[in-house]
Amino acid sequence: MKSPFGIYLHSPWCRTRCPYCAFNVQVNPNADFESWRDALTTAWKHTATSLTGSAHSLYFGGGTPSLLPSKVIHHLIQTLPLELNAEITVEANPGTITTTGLEKLRNTGVNRLSLGIQTFNSKHAKRLGRGHNVRQARALLKDVHSIGFDSWSVDLMFALPNQTLDELKIDIDRLLALQPPHVSLYGLTIEPGTAYASAEKAGDLTLPESDTWRSMYDEIVMTLEKEGLERYEVSNFARPGHRGRHNEAIWRGGHYVGLGPGAHGFLPNGQRTWSHADIHEWLKNPQPIGVQPTPHESAVDQVLSSLRHVDGLNLYSLRASSGHEVDPSTISQLKLGGLLTQRGDHLQLTDTAFPIADGIVRRICDGLYLPKST
Ligand SMILES: C[S@@+](CC[C@H](N)C(=O)[O-])C[C@H]1O[C@@H](n2cnc3c(N)ncnc32)[C@H](O)[C@@H]1O
Ligand code: SF4
Repeated sequence: MKSPFGIYLHSPWCRTRCPYCAFNVQVNPNADFESWRDALTTAWKHTATSLTGSAHSLYFGGGTPSLLPSKVIHHLIQTLPLELNAEITVEANPGTITTTGLEKLRNTGVNRLSLGIQTFNSKHAKRLGRGHNVRQARALLKDVHSIGFDSWSVDLMFALPNQTLDELKIDIDRLLALQPPHVSLYGLTIEPGTAYASAEKAGDLTLPESDTWRSMYDEIVMTLEKEGLERYEVSNFARPGHRGRHNEAIWRGGHYVGLGPGAHGFLPNGQRTWSHADIHEWLKNPQPIGVQPTPHESAVDQVLSSLRHVDGLNLYSLRASSGHEVDPSTISQLKLGGLLTQRGDHLQLTDTAFPIADGIVRRICDGLYLPKST
């Protein structure tokens, strides 16, 4: 029987490393894109033996996939089995792609862009070490409209060093003036090992207090929803028909093939897969390594992916796929605290709970147990 799946390809290169980023990326002006493409093709051949049918989505993530030559993207789109109307997304950073580059991408079959704008404030863009300026970001967005991409998304960051609520409001106004069909929201987190982590340790980084963080998040949600961008996951907002098919499938426990250095996947045969993060190691052994998760790991995965989504967690599915239950007293406490609602077997976060979703997910995971068989 066919089991739907998406494909994620990790492109590990960036022009520079942003001082806050801990993703698996490398700066290499002489990157060998053709070897990457060939290794992906090899990895695909290994993985395809456990799949039937075609992919509903293909996602080029990174890193900065807009650095990839369009002929490499075209080759992969032609090689991989995709449904006729598959969603094909490329993450693109302003400053790494021209109008001609966008047109070429569109001609390869790419029909969705995820644009790493982050902020429309020049002072903050510079502090974030972004390789583009606000003028380039606006120019890119104008071209996206005129070149005719069916759908596109903007990444917006908030809770930036020294950012005020008023500055954020201006950022949101500038964002909404462009009428994006989809927005992904990122509250700045200080990741270990980054330049920002060192700056914070040295006392050189002033970050918003937690109540300002909360006001910022609430302001974004209120303004975006008023403009017709519905929150469908803690950090993702879309107009009707513009939810990202790739991520949406993952949050709903769907299967996906993850290929490329450090990529993860979840295959229809139940295996979780991972790949070598080091590009040299990966080029030698690009095929993903599969492991069968334990029932507890499966249960945790299901809670993590589904509870942050508006559709929530289905306790029946959790039981059926992993044998696990959630401690009823944890559920009662969260319901009493106004953080969860329950309809039958269905648990959903309340509006109050969304900004603190990670803490609630942790509590639910702590409350997972395997009932004794009777
Ligand atoms: C892996 S990046 C890929 C997209 C693209 N390279 C870019 O930077 O625009 C995906 C998103 O992660 C977010 N991100 C990376 N590090 C972050 C951090 N420490 N805190 C919050 N968001 C972060 C950025 O907003 C970025 O758009
Ligand atoms: S461009 Fe994106 S992926 Fe690359 S270092 Fe910056 S945040 Fe990370």
